[in-house]
Parts: sequence; structure tokens; C-alpha cells
Amino acid sequence: MAVFRDAIRRFNRFRRLQKRKFLLACGFDLYIKSQDRDVLERTIFPYVLKRTDLSEILFVGCHWYTKGYSKWFEEKNYWTLDHDVEQAKYGAGNHILDSIENIRLHFEAGVLDVIICNGVFGWGLNTREHADRAFNGCYDCLREGGLFLLGWNDVPDHAPFPPAECESLKRFSPFVFPAFSASRYLSDSASRHIYDFYVKPPATEHLARK
Ligand SMILES: C[S@@+](CC[C@H](N)C(=O)[O-])C[C@H]1O[C@@H](n2cnc3c(N)ncnc32)[C@H](O)[C@@H]1O
Repeated sequence: MAVFRDAIRRFNRFRRLQKRKFLLACGFDLYIKSQDRDVLERTIFPYVLKRTDLSEILFVGCHWYTKGYSKWFEEKNYWTLDHDVEQAKYGAGNHILDSIENIRLHFEAGVLDVIICNGVFGWGLNTREHADRAFNGCYDCLREGGLFLLGWNDVPDHAPFPPAECESLKRFSPFVFPAFSASRYLSDSASRHIYDFYVKPPATEHLARK
């Protein structure tokens, strides 16, 4: 069964590649959305948007294709953060120009409901020391029950080490994302984009796990 599923995934990936090559050959310089982006926008965002108890949202890392997210999250308090001044124009009205390592300078402890950190680990946030500082800061700024989404690419160029090895991430509990019935989703893309879902546990649970 697994072999069969794998064959279908490979075939679908091949078809997408062929389609992209064909469109490029025809002169269409199109932005074809990757499957992991599709999952982010069509499965993960709707979940966050639907949950009324999730209103304080921080999205880390901006690019031209994330500019429209401000509109999607207009019903929430939506913040963006990026350390590159060039990306600020793609950020929200509430945009922070700084490294995620300094998140504590911008948010009080326990005030955020969700942090989406997609494509940042391995794309600038590359060492254990920096990642731990960033993820510890995220942990502190989230409220108990707050969600931390880490999107990263499990490929040599963008995975300096497995992020799960970070001590800071061990403070979180895995969060079983309802649509996937799992706390990890490996997308069907050549970039091996992974979404890891974490939740900040209640303080009592954290002490019990020590
Ligand atoms: C590949 S883009 C990802 C953009 C977006 N988050 C997404 O969903 O695709 C990486 C972005 O992360 C930003 N970035 C990398 N390291 C960062 C850090 N330590 N703090 C804040 N932003 C960082 C870069 O400036 C860049 O704009």
C-alpha cells in the first residue's frame, strides 16, 4: 500500500513538473503554487482563522507572496516580523523589523496565540544557538495552549540540522493538527517541506514532564 501511495506521489510530482516546464516553454512566467504553500493557505490558515480563541498571530518571514496574508488575517491581530528591511513592504501594518531571536523585545510573555515560522529555519536562522534563542523567545511569548508552527525544508541546503534536536523545541508538546491527525506533515514537494505543529503546554504539564 505504501509503495502504491509513493508511486502516485511521484507520478503527481512528475506531472506538475511537466506542466511547469510546458508553461515556461510557452512563455508563461507563472507563479505556480507549490503543494506545501497550498497546504499552508488552504488547510492551515483556515484552521487558525476559524478558531475564535486564536486572535493574536505572528507570522515570521515575509516575501512578495506573503503580502496578501494581511488581508486574510484582517479579522485577527496580525503581526509580521522579518530582519531584512527589504521585506518590510510585504509585511502587515503591524510589522517588526528585527530578528526572531529578539522577539522578547517586542512582545510580553504569554501574549501571542499563534506563531507561524515558515521558511525561516535554514533560511537565515541556521545555527543551534540562534534557533534556540528564537524558539525559546517564541515559547515565552506564546500563551499556554498557544500554537507554534515550524515550516522547514528537509533538504541538505536548508536543514543545517534536524530542528527537533533544539532543546527549546522540547519545551513544547506536539500538537496533533486535526486535518492531518498528526503533529507533522511532510508535503509532496521536491523541497521536502515539513510542517511541525507544537503547542505550549499548561505550566503544570510542563513541570510534570521534567
Ligand atoms: C524563504 S523566506 C520565507 C518567507 C515566508 N515566511 C514564507 O512563508 O515563505 C525567508 C525569510 O525569512 C527571513 N529571515 C531569515 N532569518 C530570519 C531571522 N533570524 N529573523 C527574522 N527573519 C528572518 C528572511 O529575511 C526572509 O525574508
